[in-house]
Amino acid sequence: MSTLVLTPLLLPIATRRLIIRDYTVDDAGAVFSYVQDPAYWQYQSANAPTAAQIEALMQWVVKNQGVSPRLMHFLAVVRKDTGEIVSEAVLKIINPGERQGEIGFGVAPKSWKQGFGSEIAGAILDAAFQHFKLHRVAGQCSPDNKGSIRVIHFARGKWWSTLIYDILDQEYAKIKSVMKKA
Ligand SMILES: CC(C)(COP(=O)(O)OP(=O)(O)OC[C@H]1O[C@@H](n2cnc3c(N)ncnc32)[C@H](O)[C@@H]1OP(=O)(O)O)[C@@H](O)C(=O)NCCC(=O)NCCS
Repeated sequence: MSTLVLTPLLLPIATRRLIIRDYTVDDAGAVFSYVQDPAYWQYQSANAPTAAQIEALMQWVVKNQGVSPRLMHFLAVVRKDTGEIVSEAVLKIINPGERQGEIGFGVAPKSWKQGFGSEIAGAILDAAFQHFKLHRVAGQCSPDNKGSIRVIHFARGKWWSTLIYDILDQEYAKIKSVMKKA
């Protein structure tokens, strides 16, 4: 394996219609305005967060922007034409020695199906492979999340897929109580 180059990613990144930049703590309100929509969470095993949770997340994200070497890129995506935050973009370098990474994205529901998810995925895959020279990049989503699968596959070619099942604590507790009664 060749050594991973951890030269900091140059931000912001401009795509055709979007700017991908670091968050500031002042972005918390804009992020909360769309992540409070249950539709955003329909294919993820999490509930919509509270405003306080988003504030805390933004504080954590901003604090971690200065960590060196920077492995976590949790970024804001802003429309060039309106300046509005329409998505987040995530690039995590998971195992620098083995050049592994993970991407993620979450577009505000009112901006779905306008090609933003694909535009973001293209930019973060470029950052992963061209800037960081990663060897393998993963993206996780529910098999029911047709939009996310399409976004991942926008970069045509061979993607290896793995099924990961997860269960919540309350579901497991429910199963145990039924088993006890049986
Ligand atoms: C999944 C998600 C990122 C898609 O973003 P998007 O900006 O709507 O995606 P795009 O507009 O680039 O669409 C890409 C393709 O998927 C299709 N698509 C988008 N949403 C779809 C849906 N719900 N069902 C079926 N197809 C869908 C688009 O029509 C497009 O098709 P095309 O390639 O034939 O043109 C967005 O729905 C989202 O953020 N959802 C909530 C958070 C989430 O689930 N994130 C992923 C977690 S792993």
